[in-house]
Amino acid sequence: MVLPTSISSLLALSVLAFFSLSARASPHLPRTASSTAASTLKLAVRINSSGVKNIAAADRARAQTFSAEDGSNITSIDATNNGVTYTADVGVGSPATYYTLLIDTGSSNTWIGANKSYTKTTTSQDTGCRFGLAYGGPTDLTYVAGVEYSDTVTLTSDLVIENQSIGVASTYPDLGGLDGILGLGPVNLTQDTVCNGGEVPTVMDNLYAQRTIHSEVFGVFFAPASSDNSGGELTIGSFDNSKITGFINYASSTSTYPASRYWGIDQSISYGSTSILTKTAGIVDTGTTLILIATDAFRKYQSATGGTPDEATGLLKISLDQYNQLSSLYFTIGSDALELTPNGQIWPRSLNTAIGGTTDGIYLVVGDIGSNSGFGLDVIIGYCFLERYYSIFEKTSYSESVAFAATEYTYATSN
Ligand SMILES: *[C@@H]1O[C@H](CO)[C@@H](O)[C@H](O)[C@H]1NC(C)=O
Ligand SMILES: *[C@@H]1O[C@H](CO)[C@@H](O)[C@H](O)[C@H]1NC(C)=O
Ligand SMILES: *[C@@H]1O[C@H](CO)[C@@H](O)[C@H](O)[C@H]1NC(C)=O
Ligand SMILES: *[C@@H]1O[C@H](CO)[C@@H](O)[C@H](O)[C@H]1NC(C)=O
Ligand SMILES: *[C@@H]1O[C@H](CO)[C@@H](O)[C@H](O)[C@H]1NC(C)=O
Repeated sequence: MVLPTSISSLLALSVLAFFSLSARASPHLPRTASSTAASTLKLAVRINSSGVKNIAAADRARAQTFSAEDGSNITSIDATNNGVTYTADVGVGSPATYYTLLIDTGSSNTWIGANKSYTKTTTSQDTGCRFGLAYGGPTDLTYVAGVEYSDTVTLTSDLVIENQSIGVASTYPDLGGLDGILGLGPVNLTQDTVCNGGEVPTVMDNLYAQRTIHSEVFGVFFAPASSDNSGGELTIGSFDNSKITGFINYASSTSTYPASRYWGIDQSISYGSTSILTKTAGIVDTGTTLILIATDAFRKYQSATGGTPDEATGLLKISLDQYNQLSSLYFTIGSDALELTPNGQIWPRSLNTAIGGTTDGIYLVVGDIGSNSGFGLDVIIGYCFLERYYSIFEKTSYSESVAFAATEYTYATSN
């Protein structure tokens, strides 16, 4: 995303073992008044036109973070290597100070401090805990780390959370001027990220626990960056039916580790009628720009499309003739095959120069995840897919699911 790719793939390593402070008791806080209304936040898109190079490599680095089980084989992630990033302005404290946060379904802690410093108010409670997440490679492990606070977090006037754990970072990666991350991933990813161990309730968990929303569900709408409508929307407590043109295709979460820690679903992929990936586990990540598939599947895709690796962008490049002969990709998720049209498989040409490409080049947005299929996380569905399908993420007491639905952009030819 974001070409932000991000950083957000902050792997929850147990880096806090040495933080031994204990939490102080927080004062009792009133619960937010019950409300049935879902609420929608406008998302702003940022396109980094100052020379984002090699998105594929940045996405792959993020992918390795996702799949590393113990952090011993993850490469460093440069958050500035993102082409397209979606952000929301989120209030912290009362009165609130607003911070511009990256929307991330691939991590679950919410933290600030990377650009604007924390303004404390009477609602700000130091928990006495450190917080920390690690990301990075074997030789340059990097952290976001700082102090955990509990504070009032305002998403919209209807969505105000009391006693939300937030990280106030003093060590952080380069987020290209953003203030931090709004973590929308599953709570499991917060394990051992604060000193008292266990899990830290996420923003979604608290909205539900405080009865501000009645279902732990959110919907994400991204429009193609090249379309007139480049704003996005995050709807919390429901989803925005007005953005959906087709039926909703639900998939329950995968049981395959490590995809199961994220918004993970099983799927198979074919190019036209040729299978390139049989049923396998993957994740849905707003913090990844491209669509990444396992190396063996990527090779099949490359040979079917005739794409050649382009050094400047890190993407596959095709000719106009090859573009005219592209077949659709089909992602069989749940009971339906979701079609990604030829136009949906190419990088928006209006943004070619932003990624180091030539104005008239045609680049494919399907990239190589960096390892062969079979390791439990063989697909990452990133921004380039999510701008073609509305996505819905839902947690209930017994399951998690992701759903997709067509939008007015599913078959658009805006690229
Ligand atoms: C505030 O949230 C923390 C978890 O982040 C929880 O342990 C604590 O009990 C909560 N305090 C109140 C007063 O609800
Ligand atoms: C990390 O994984 C890659 C691909 O599986 C492998 O080539 C490399 O040697 C590994 N590096 C380390 C430090 O384990
Ligand atoms: C844009 O990308 C450049 C080069 O990667 C980076 O230095 C800069 O911080 C990025 N800016 C934003 C706003 O992301
Ligand atoms: C970082 O903060 C400064 C000072 O508040 C602000 O002017 C700048 O726009 C911020 N950077 C971004 C990318 O939002
Ligand atoms: C939750 O995370 C732990 C590791 O921290 C892992 O062992 C466990 O399998 C995860 N749960 C799921 C459902 O993936």
